[in-house]
Amino acid sequence: MTDRRPFVGGNWKMNTDRAGAEALARGVAEIARDASAEVAVFPPFPYLLPVGEALAGAGVILGAQDVYHQPDGAFTGEVSVAMLGDCGVRAVLAGHSERRHVIGEDDRTINKKVLATLAGGLISVLCVGETLEQREAGRTDEVNDRQTRLGLAGVSELDLARVVIAYEPVWAIGTGRTATPEDAQDAHVKIRGVISQLYGDRAAGSVRIIYGGSMKPDNAEALMAQPDIDGGLIGGASLKAADFGAIVRAGASAARA
Ligand code: PGA
Repeated sequence: MTDRRPFVGGNWKMNTDRAGAEALARGVAEIARDASAEVAVFPPFPYLLPVGEALAGAGVILGAQDVYHQPDGAFTGEVSVAMLGDCGVRAVLAGHSERRHVIGEDDRTINKKVLATLAGGLISVLCVGETLEQREAGRTDEVNDRQTRLGLAGVSELDLARVVIAYEPVWAIGTGRTATPEDAQDAHVKIRGVISQLYGDRAAGSVRIIYGGSMKPDNAEALMAQPDIDGGLIGGASLKAADFGAIVRAGASAARA
């Protein structure tokens, strides 16, 4: 890894209950206290406030799993960037594969979320990645190229400093199938190449590209030791503080190596 500070995020998805979320947050606060990696958690909306309280002073980034791009108004069920900011949120996911492929969000919708998040001063974590079908059809690079370009459309170079890209091959998410470190590194290099075409080499060298998809304590270090893998977005393994802690430590030691 380079001098890019590792970013390790726990995406809790639609899991935990209030007491469990608070307990997990207290565990993450302990882990983060002496971590050199940047640590973030993305709890379900209703638990943002209690999780934020449990994390107080620990330096953990409170994140949200989704947002709506409009500032306010008649959008039943939706939540704005300002509302999230008001609850202490500092980072928001966009383009997660479950929102693309289960909920049906397209690149245009995702781009609006990225732009709104950045305009509100928050960090945008833009997720990209190919499905198994696309991979088997040899379309991995094309899909990542397109999702990266469309996701970042209209993002200024200045705002790119608050973007983290998460490469998450859809076939690896929640399946126990992890990309090999070499395959993931290859995808990360290609995505960094797209950023370089859009913003130049210097910006591309600074942007963090993290890996997601069945990252676990036993494979995290090998993945994050790859020169272009700058951390992880962790689903299942982020629900146990001990496992998440082991991954955070792996990120920090890969960064030192
Ligand atoms: P997983 O999920 O670690 O459970 O595969 C990763 C993600 O969806 O961000």
